[in-house]
Amino acid sequence: MTMTSISDETYADLIHEDLAHLIHPQYYAPDHQQPVIFDHGEGVWLTDLQGRRYIDALSSLWNVAVGHGRAELADAAAEQMRKVAFTNNYTGFSNVPAIRLAGKVIDLAYDNMEGVFFTNSGSESNEGAFKAARFYWNLQGRPTKTKLIARERAYHGGTLATMSMTGLPVFWKYFGPLVPEIVHTKQPDNLECDCEPNTDGECAHWLEAAILREGPDTVAAFIAEPVKGAGGVWTPAPGYFEQIREICSKYEVLFIADEVITGFGRTGHMFALERWGVQPDILSIAKAITSGYVPLGAFIVSKPIQEALHNVPPDARFMHAYTNSAHPTASAVGLRNLQIFEDEHLVENAAAMGERFGDALRDAIGSSAHVTNLRHLGLIAGFTLSQDAKGTPYAASDGMGGKVAKHLREQGEVITRFVGDNLVFAPPLIIKPAEVDHIAESVGRAVRDVTGA
Ligand SMILES: Cc1ncc(COP(=O)(O)O)c(C=O)c1O
Repeated sequence: MTMTSISDETYADLIHEDLAHLIHPQYYAPDHQQPVIFDHGEGVWLTDLQGRRYIDALSSLWNVAVGHGRAELADAAAEQMRKVAFTNNYTGFSNVPAIRLAGKVIDLAYDNMEGVFFTNSGSESNEGAFKAARFYWNLQGRPTKTKLIARERAYHGGTLATMSMTGLPVFWKYFGPLVPEIVHTKQPDNLECDCEPNTDGECAHWLEAAILREGPDTVAAFIAEPVKGAGGVWTPAPGYFEQIREICSKYEVLFIADEVITGFGRTGHMFALERWGVQPDILSIAKAITSGYVPLGAFIVSKPIQEALHNVPPDARFMHAYTNSAHPTASAVGLRNLQIFEDEHLVENAAAMGERFGDALRDAIGSSAHVTNLRHLGLIAGFTLSQDAKGTPYAASDGMGGKVAKHLREQGEVITRFVGDNLVFAPPLIIKPAEVDHIAESVGRAVRDVTGA
């Protein structure tokens, strides 16, 4: 295999230095003995230093919506950096790209949204959303409303509070204790309801039970991803989010929608809850707002919360801040990125290619006895590998998810992630029909080769 641009010695040296000094996210050193070192990308394709090409079937980390190698975004960053790369956005200072981007985001978001606080990441967006919820209830003279309810299998980030919101125990090990006042829904004893459950088995009554268990006067907010992403891609049942909205309103609990993955077109709508006519009180975003070209996120608040923030007494300033909040260069890239969304009709493409991907996956693996619970909403999809059609799980030591993902990468030119025995997909929104088909056919081959059927 030919290297793209470097010698064998340099390649070996890079691997050595990586192991010696670079602590990666979710670090486990053996993962990095033979890393794929990416070199460049174009569209949905990535090429590594050894010259191997792969379809990026997860938009890298669910974020590279407009695909790789977009010169327009490099130009937008360079233009803003030449003018002025960074300015202070604290008390009494502002900048044009951030003002324009805030306006643009409000135009695109739910009708009830009014104020935007920019962050650097999805974790910071959720952390800020939680702080904003507590702050709001204090302004309303309801200081006991401090708790946050989150869901099992949810992923909300890597800071201490967002790790505690995350409903995946694997993220808690050796980092505890978790932040108090953050609790998770769980299946109530003697639950009797006729709800159709979500693809992971949960229904909206789990939230109602949690609010009643904790006491509505103690609960500030509930946080949920419209589609649970990093926990394995779990889609909601019809009616679920309408019920969630009703329950939150009934008990005066703010509904925080974590649309860090689903925001900006991923599900075939600009924001995912549009599909069900539901509006949250606070909206967390990141990832596709810049397609990952530079870090940027935000939490967005509804009109009542924005009004409350505008009318605080002098001793109740909203003392929440990041140096890089409303970063001019990141905002300029965000604006240009959202222009690409409009010019190339990416939300519409996500809806059309999502349907095609769903059909193609069903054709490729729908009849496999080792695939259960195939789910998708727009261009986000997942399925579970199991021993048989009844869904009997493989032993964890079999590592089936990892084996299929490895086979996909090595034989199928497709990169994605696995969560236990769930394979997850979220390709760039610019994807074309032949590329969708390529992913689905590779998945079909990998599942057959690894499971033997
Ligand atoms: C739904 C969701 N929320 C929050 C986060 C955290 O975002 P970040 O990694 O940018 O901090 C992620 C990251 O994948 C996510 O998927």
